[in-house]
Amino acid sequence: MTKQFLEWTEALAVDHGLIDSDHRHLIMLINRFHDSVESGANGDLVCKTLCDLADYSCFHFIREETLMSTIGYGARAAHIAEHNSFVNRLTEMTAAFEQGKLDSKVILDYLPVWIVNHVMKTDQNFGRYLADYHQQGW
Ligand SMILES: [Fe+2]
Repeated sequence: MTKQFLEWTEALAVDHGLIDSDHRHLIMLINRFHDSVESGANGDLVCKTLCDLADYSCFHFIREETLMSTIGYGARAAHIAEHNSFVNRLTEMTAAFEQGKLDSKVILDYLPVWIVNHVMKTDQNFGRYLADYHQQGW
């Protein structure tokens, strides 16, 4: 199997089925953006892959944020701020890219770094809290 631009590995696991499957889906969408750029797909198609990524990111962030509310997660506000900052940055970059003012390379540098950092720090902290919550029956 050919190596993907960004691979999901166990190191990214949050150990929550839905969250992990969302993260795999987000990584697949990042790879789709990468592959559309690399294959020289037309601009509309490349932009569509970014819109799909933005749409699924919003859907996924709401899923995490709802779960945080349900269990009264204390670090919720800081976590949501990271989500919002990603959505704003992705929106800005997509608009600049559509207008031909931003090279796809900048986006390809940003996406994997953001998602890996966010998942391995912020989401895994939340994952540990979730596991404790369920284990201790809070
Ligand atoms: Fe998150």
